[in-house]
Amino acid sequence: RSAHYYYQVVRDNGFPQSEDGTPVYGNFRKDFIWSTATASYQIEGGWRADGKGLSIWDKFAHTPLRVFNDDTGDIACDSYHKVEEDVAMLRRLKVTHYRFSISWSRVLPDGTTKNINEAGLNYYRRLVDALLIANIQPHITLYHWDLPQALQDVGGWENDSIIDRFREYADFIFTHLGDKVKFWITINEPYNIANIGHGYGAAAPGISFRPGTLPYIVGHNLIKAHAEAWHLYNDNYRTKQGGIISITINSDWSEPRNPYKQEDVEAARRVVQFYIGWFAHPIFNGDYSDTMKTIIRERSLAAGLSKSRLPEFSPAEIQRVKGTYDYFGFNHYTTVLAFPVEYGNLQHYDADRGAGTIADRTWLDSGSGWLKVSPFGFRKILNFIKEEYGDPPIIITENGISARGPVDLNDVHRIHYYENYINQVLKAYLLDGVDIRGYTAWSLMDNLEWATGFSERFGLFYVNRSDSKLTRVAKNSVARYATIITCNGFPD
Ligand code: NOJ
Repeated sequence: RSAHYYYQVVRDNGFPQSEDGTPVYGNFRKDFIWSTATASYQIEGGWRADGKGLSIWDKFAHTPLRVFNDDTGDIACDSYHKVEEDVAMLRRLKVTHYRFSISWSRVLPDGTTKNINEAGLNYYRRLVDALLIANIQPHITLYHWDLPQALQDVGGWENDSIIDRFREYADFIFTHLGDKVKFWITINEPYNIANIGHGYGAAAPGISFRPGTLPYIVGHNLIKAHAEAWHLYNDNYRTKQGGIISITINSDWSEPRNPYKQEDVEAARRVVQFYIGWFAHPIFNGDYSDTMKTIIRERSLAAGLSKSRLPEFSPAEIQRVKGTYDYFGFNHYTTVLAFPVEYGNLQHYDADRGAGTIADRTWLDSGSGWLKVSPFGFRKILNFIKEEYGDPPIIITENGISARGPVDLNDVHRIHYYENYINQVLKAYLLDGVDIRGYTAWSLMDNLEWATGFSERFGLFYVNRSDSKLTRVAKNSVARYATIITCNGFPD
């Protein structure tokens, strides 16, 4: 079913390919999606412009010591006022698609349709129109972490009333933008929303006092909200608007620290099930994995609780959630090495998976502590998705690397990263037969990297923050990515 929907939407992008459509050595599909991504809070600025409501990130970033250097997205890259500049950069990259997100509180200031901000909606209308004129397809994320603060005030993702609110918001956006937008993502990286926002507290809303319980409740509501938005589109919009919709799930790949040690092998498997599996298993296979259900129940009962800290789906809910995808939206950056850890009865997420992780010391660094250059893991996890989740069409919705410290526009490290990671994607497609339909570079430009502020720069374009115009300057990775795109793979 999903693959069928997919074929109706994705067009021939005119890339080189053999006559009969079989893969050519070195090339992706001729309808391949080549894209780059951003997110509203990270680039837009205009935090109070034209009646925008506040989001949880406005509040979090305005709380001292939450974000590095107390950076905020008040201005960010000022993309709210720079539609033309942003589209000019995209043209230069020669991308076929652009992935961006909508700020919920910019269009619905208090999160509900009782109060609509036309000016905010018009920003997205202008952006979509400018993209289409440039022959670039918009790929919209409905939720990339900036929940309206008004909804957080009544419990946010912890309160299951959020499911109706999200459905209402999705309905509003499909109605107003869906005639022109054919590519949708409901929610970006539920793992990080649940685990960082509501477990470690290092992202908005910054809650950390029930780390082994709240992330699972939040995760449960995220899955249900996604499923309702998917069904809404499927039932009421798909025939009329003819697009595709899915969720974007992120995951590292996890290898055993010592592949000859059975306990390391098992720890690595647990990390995978508690990471990609937490969300992918219910959506692609139905229900949480046995690994998660068994471990969390046992640990909850051993700690004297009457039931598991992991919420249960009823049989009807399992059916409702299962299959709510048109493609596997996947964000990937790095690989970790896993080993077993015993945390006693501490009710923490990491205690449940019972594994610690480290990086191999030979892997190159990035500007982010968690991101080490380890391209081989990309091919492995793409193969894992194919095997574990029924060979779905995959759109890579993010991949990239950060730099920090002095700016170097030669950008050799980023070029090295993209070439090596895209090469692994190509191998997964050509040699392993993984059904890869698209690749998205994170990010179009340097932006606010959440709690690390502007100090970690993921952009293909540099944004000069000491210049009040926030001038964008191409790094050398821009030309290289554009070459890979025009060759639909690597030049000979
Ligand atoms: C994941 C997120 O979706 C994005 O917002 C973030 O900036 C990048 N990865 C890099 O950490």
